[in-house]
Formats: sequence, structure tokens, C-alpha cells
Amino acid sequence: MAGPALNLVAIYPGSFDPITNGHLDLISRGSRMVERLIVAVLRNENKRPLFSVQERVEMLREATRGFSNVEVGSFDGLLVNYAAAQGANLILRGIRAISDYEHELQMALMNRRLRPEIETAFLMAGEAYSFISSHLVKQVVPLGGDVAGLVPPVVEARLKERYAVQQE
Ligand code: PNS
Repeated sequence: MAGPALNLVAIYPGSFDPITNGHLDLISRGSRMVERLIVAVLRNENKRPLFSVQERVEMLREATRGFSNVEVGSFDGLLVNYAAAQGANLILRGIRAISDYEHELQMALMNRRLRPEIETAFLMAGEAYSFISSHLVKQVVPLGGDVAGLVPPVVEARLKERYAVQQE
């Protein structure tokens, strides 16, 4: 297959608290469409995350080790400013269900208003992943639910550790 027609450098921003296999699927598919893909963790203390930014970055790095054009970073302030500083011309986001659409549309339009030269593109979540969310994973693990196959192994282990769930 020929390389990308445009010099696309994409930012895939999010909370990633923690990364799920849905995120990983999007990273895998997105990385094939662009030259560089920068996965960017939002540094936002107001959200009271389960994992620190450093932990989330570590898990992302471990889970994306096999992708040669994927980097992991973190940002605060406006996403579009971080994207511009990284030389990115595309923001990549995933959409699972119609319920994601409205919020994503608002963010995409705001980002376009702030920096019209940076485009937002959406990928539909793989059907096997359309029900997974970081939020649900965090709800299920402390109650003893099995999330194997829904999150990368590094995340499964850290979740069990965090919630002190018995490891087999
Ligand atoms: O994984 P999330 O929590 O849905 O990701 C949301 C994120 C990080 C993409 C969004 O909150 C964001 O871009 N925040 C940075 C602040 C910003 O640029 N706001 C203006 C555009 S909405």
C-alpha cells in the first residue's frame, strides 16, 4: 500500500484513565492512516483520576510499544495549542454510540473555531469495543468483575493492584 497522501500528524487526546482495548483499537487503526500519531493525556486534576498522569502515560507507552509511529505525551491548557506546538494538523477521536456524538461535535467545532487549520476526524469504534469505557471498567473491577480482553494486560494488572483484587 502507498504511504499517506498527506503529511498527517495526528493527536489522539483523552483522559485515558485507564486506556482500554477500545482506545488501543483506535490507535492501531489511526496509526496506519498518518505519519505520526501522538497520544496525549490531559493533565486535569479536577477530574480526580484513578491513575496519575505518569501512570497513565506509562500504561499507554507499554500498550503501544508495538507501533513505531506512535508517541505518548501529556498536555494541559488548550488541546489545539498543544497540537500546534507538536506540529499536528489532525485531531483524532473515537465515537462509540450516538450518545458520544453531541459532545464530540461541540468539541470539534470549538477546536475548529480556535484553530481552523487543525481538522478533527472521527473513527467509529470497532463493534467489539463499542460498549467499553474506562468508567465502566473502573466500576466492574472493584466488584470482582473480569475485564480480561477489555483492557491491555498491563492495565488489568494495575487495576487489580489498585483495588487490591486477588490476582490468580
Ligand atoms: O477522554 P476524554 O475525557 O473524553 O477527553 C476529553 C479531552 C481531553 C479531549 C478534552 O477534555 C480536551 O481536549 N480538553 C482540553 C481543553 C480544551 O482544549 N478545551 C477546548 C476544546 S473542547
